[in-house]
Amino acid sequence: MTSKSENPDKGKLYLSPSFAIMASGTGTNALALIDHGIEIGRPPACLIVNREDSPLLKTGPERSIPTFYVPAKKTGIDEEFEKKVIEICKRYSVSTLFLAGFMKILGPNFLEYFKVDEHQGLFRVINIHPSLLPKYPGLGGYEKAYNEGDREFGHTLHLVNTGVDEGPILYQKIMKREDGDTLEDMMNRGKKEENLSYQKLLQYLTKEPLEYVIEDHSLFVKRVDLDQMTLINYGELYE
Ligand code: GRF
Repeated sequence: MTSKSENPDKGKLYLSPSFAIMASGTGTNALALIDHGIEIGRPPACLIVNREDSPLLKTGPERSIPTFYVPAKKTGIDEEFEKKVIEICKRYSVSTLFLAGFMKILGPNFLEYFKVDEHQGLFRVINIHPSLLPKYPGLGGYEKAYNEGDREFGHTLHLVNTGVDEGPILYQKIMKREDGDTLEDMMNRGKKEENLSYQKLLQYLTKEPLEYVIEDHSLFVKRVDLDQMTLINYGELYE
């Protein structure tokens, strides 16, 4: 970022009072968000799960969170599924979505509902991914870091766009691989940190907005320092 146009389009991205969580699997991240949300007085408006065997279908209602099982096709974009989820989001006035181990690709029509600026790929949808993106998009982040012998691994919190794990990065947790670490060790340590990071991001977003700039058709989103609970500046350009 070396040039500066006359009128960069700067914006703040607020988490609406109402957010939803969408999950597929074990649900540790979803549960971490729910429990922290309840603790800070900002529980999710609803929880949507696309797998019948997910423990969240029990733990969500136990915490009095409106919980919906919406079946989805195993592969590809499922427009029927997406329509049903949007109906639920409308019913609960949801405008921000946290994906917590949600294992499906979301189509452009779905994302449209959460759009801030669709041309720039800016949507109110947040994902947690188990690798240091852009390394290892897709499935198996921990496995890939383990098999490659990486000395560093971790996770990424990012906004979702129409690409796969390509949206603007909000935060990355870099962790050290210890000598003798098994894949299970890395996954267990990594998952605990994922849960914490997602909770901290929720806490940050309940108080402060994200900030972005669109200049010369490029989108820049400030990263969040989750230890200091502040945004990290773009550098000299957008102070
Ligand atoms: C996590 O590793 C998350 O980063 C990835 O899927 C996994 C889900 O775990 N997107 P859980 O269901 O939240 O325990």
